[in-house]
Amino acid sequence: MKSSERGKAKFKNVFVCQQCGRESSKWLGRCPDCHSWNSFVETRLALSRASSSVYSRENKPQELSRVEKGDFPRFRLGFTEVNRVLGGGLVPGSLVLIGGEPGIGKSTLLLQISAMMAANSKAVAYVSGEESINQVKLRSERLGIEGKGIYFLSEPDLVAVLECLEGLSPELAIIDSIQTMYLEDVAGMPGSISQVRECTWRLERWAKENNVPLLITGHVTKEGAIAGPGTLEHIVDVVLYFEGEPFSNYRVLRSAKNRFGSTNEVGIFEMGDSGLIEVDNPSQVFLSAYRDGTVGSVVVPTLEGSRPLLVEIQALTTPNSFTPPRRIANGVDFNRLLLIIAVLTKRAGLRLFNQDVIVNVTGGLRVNEPAVDLGIATAIASSFRDAKPISGLVALGEVGLNGELRGVSHLERRIAEAIRLGFKSCLMPELSSTIASELRQSLHTAEIRLIEVGSVAEALKLGFTRGNRVQNAKGRNTVQE
Ligand code: TYD
Ligand code: MG
Repeated sequence: MKSSERGKAKFKNVFVCQQCGRESSKWLGRCPDCHSWNSFVETRLALSRASSSVYSRENKPQELSRVEKGDFPRFRLGFTEVNRVLGGGLVPGSLVLIGGEPGIGKSTLLLQISAMMAANSKAVAYVSGEESINQVKLRSERLGIEGKGIYFLSEPDLVAVLECLEGLSPELAIIDSIQTMYLEDVAGMPGSISQVRECTWRLERWAKENNVPLLITGHVTKEGAIAGPGTLEHIVDVVLYFEGEPFSNYRVLRSAKNRFGSTNEVGIFEMGDSGLIEVDNPSQVFLSAYRDGTVGSVVVPTLEGSRPLLVEIQALTTPNSFTPPRRIANGVDFNRLLLIIAVLTKRAGLRLFNQDVIVNVTGGLRVNEPAVDLGIATAIASSFRDAKPISGLVALGEVGLNGELRGVSHLERRIAEAIRLGFKSCLMPELSSTIASELRQSLHTAEIRLIEVGSVAEALKLGFTRGNRVQNAKGRNTVQE
């Protein structure tokens, strides 16, 4: 090797898909992995990946049985909801990515976390590549944060950021956002796959070498992934998504990957005038406007992670003989709604083909599990028949194409939550005798009437108060005897 070449970083030119990060030696019009069109961009990559390992050469394989079980020490953050989602707290040296749409409240959440850490005499470094110190000061005033112990740096150049972090030796570091950071020696604009990936690698290395937990934010793309699916998720230790409907004040922090805990947990927050407030009793909050015995409205005990959560499902059907009927799903899966409408039409005799059907989950929540099917079906039937569901009713069950009802998981937890909030009846699929006896033993089932039904048609017979109007065979509303 010539002496001039020695010590020089080596690069190679490759084409990288900006959606999924696939590399190719030549330009491709369509990515063979993620099928996006025109997503390949020529990129200069450093060939020093091998030397970027944080593990030393003395590292030897060890037999697993001889390894002593180490417990991860954890930093407890001020928010119990965040601690729960993280699996008990923040592990030192871990890299946590918080993804979400712009404006959802990531910076607010991180500033509040910083303030809580700083209040425990821990130095926090807050690096922003997109906001100036004055903007952040304004936000902190709005949140009532004085800022003692929080060291703010507005800097997009990652080398300068890392130098600054070295000098500061914080106990928690925050990078807001990864898409605004850049490295001089990597090709591409800030936010491009190659920049984002390389910046994340360097931050990961810094976090592990210094044993400092690092929280980074990432804006999600239109498709709902951070900087292209699969590019960052495998580098970081924990991926959290901060979600919420734009019109709603509720925010859900959901874990998509967690090397130190389960991904089943969610944290629920409300965005107020002075920042995010934890919601301790979400069922009560989401049902605060619910009125028992309302036409077109049914409560369903869903699970958010492993926590039961009661949500109200509302449906409205209106006749429409002129245009093809419209179906609108807010907060429930659209295809699921079509399936339920088809089953109601074919298996329960509800003439919905000339009706617009709108289904809405109140509070701006999204519920995607099939356990809410029966709740949706009952709400639609209630609106269509103009009939009130029986008083204090919750409904639970997956609807099959033949109109049959299927069991749901974690029945006990869901029913216990319904009992806690004073519901009196639960419309649900038939139970096997063992499950029924287990349920009776573990719950005060005397406090709730379990109405077991085999099919949607049966559920619609038993779920409504007698004397309600029902449709006769000609599609006219009559009063049931
Ligand atoms: P922000 O944290 O800047 O979002 P992100 O970092 O995810 O882009 O939050 C911005 C939104 O939050 C903005 O629309 C205003 C709102 N907000 C409140 O409602 N209350 C508050 O106390 C704060 C600070 C922000
Ligand atoms: Mg922000």
